Amino acid sequence: MQMRAIIPGTFDPITFGHLDIIKRAAGLFDEVIVGVALSAPKRTLFTHEERIGLARSVTDGIPNVKVEGFSTLLVDFASDKGCKAIVKGLRAITDFEYEFQMSALNSSINPAIDTAFIMSSPEYMFLSSSAVRELASFGADVSKFVPETVGNALAKKFEMDGKPAGRTE
Ligand code: PNS
Repeated sequence: MQMRAIIPGTFDPITFGHLDIIKRAAGLFDEVIVGVALSAPKRTLFTHEERIGLARSVTDGIPNVKVEGFSTLLVDFASDKGCKAIVKGLRAITDFEYEFQMSALNSSINPAIDTAFIMSSPEYMFLSSSAVRELASFGADVSKFVPETVGNALAKKFEMDGKPAGRTE
């Protein structure tokens, strides 16, 4: 039986920390879908299409990974795609409380889908998309934290009119 998992997130933008989790999940499951949430309640720097495009471009070389956008409940999307597991990266104790709550909530909606956690590699424990956005907004070098394509996209966003481009959604 093919085991398919989903890695959901806002990916605003995708970082090396996300890629670490995606690659390790790709080694554990037959197929991994990176689910880029529309995240209507959140204002994002990159549009949904941009976030999907960046995630696609940096996961291109991983054969059993594909990127798809979704705007529904996560468990409904996972079920439609035949995923038995939701995979989340856990960075630190602070992530745990939120993720524990989300996994309990998701499992109460659809008990057939389990959430599995992969611990972040130590070098990415501190890394978050929000920190990367903030660093990039000040023109800091983010090449240690995101792939080049993403760094270029951030630079372009924040270059507009010589000031931070602001949030687009
Ligand atoms: O990268 P993030 O912002 O931590 O990801 C959060 C995400 C997208 C996984 C979460 O907001 C989500 O699952 N959104 C889809 C809607 C949903 O199913 N919400 C759960 C019940 S409130």
